[in-house]
Amino acid sequence: SHHPTICYRPIQPCDLEILERIHADIFPIRYESEFFQSVVHERDIVSWAAVDRSQPDGHSDELIGFVTARIVLAKETEIGDLLRYDPSKPDQTLVYILTLGVVESYRNLGIARSLIRQVIKYASSVPACRAVYLHVISYNVPAIHLYKKMSFKCIRRLQDFYLINGQHYDSFLFVYYVNGG
Ligand code: ACO
Repeated sequence: SHHPTICYRPIQPCDLEILERIHADIFPIRYESEFFQSVVHERDIVSWAAVDRSQPDGHSDELIGFVTARIVLAKETEIGDLLRYDPSKPDQTLVYILTLGVVESYRNLGIARSLIRQVIKYASSVPACRAVYLHVISYNVPAIHLYKKMSFKCIRRLQDFYLINGQHYDSFLFVYYVNGG
C-alpha cells in the first residue's frame, strides 16, 4: 500500500495555482484572488503547507494540505471580551484560522491535526498572542470532531453566520487559549 512521507513547509508563490484549485474543490465559499495573493506573499497571513515527499519528482513538493491564519489585534475581535483585559498590554493578538484543508485521498492520516499543531506552536511562541480561534459551519462534523479532539473549546453558536447559495447556516466559534490567555 501507499506510504506517504508527509512534510510541512511554508506556502510559497509557486503554490498559488494548486492552493486556489484545492480551495475551489473543497470549500463551499469562494475566496477572492486577493486572499490567495496575501497567503503566498505572507501579507498579514501565516500559513503551512503539507506535501508528500514520497511522490515522484515533480509532485513531491505539491500541496496536499494547508492551513492559513491571520494575526489580529485581540481588542478588535468578537472574542476580545473573553480574554483577561490588561490595560498595560493593549497589543495582545490572536491567531484566526481562515482555512484548513486536506485533499480527499490524504484524509484521516492525521495531517489536519499536524497542521493545527503548527498553528498552536507558532501562536504559543508569540508572547503577545492569547489564543487561536476559528469559525466552522455547523454541519461540518469532521472539522468539529477534529477541533474538539484537539481541546479547542466551543464558546458560541452564531446564527445564520454563513450565506451559501441563498441559504443561511449557523457557525460554531472554537477557541484554543495559549500563553495563559
Ligand atoms: N468524521 C469524524 N471525525 C473526523 C473525520 C470524519 N470524517 N475526519 C477527521 N476527524 C477527526 C477525528 O477526530 C480525527 O481524530 P482520530 O484520527 O483520532 O479519529 C481528527 O479529526 C484528526 O483527523 P485528521 O486525519 O488530522 O484530519 P484530516 O487530515 O482528514 O482533515 C479536514 C480533516 C481538514 C476537516 C478534512 O476532512 C477536510 O479537508 N475537509 C474539507 C475542508 C474542511 O472542512 N475544512 C475545515 C473547515 S473549518 C476552517 O477552515 C476554519
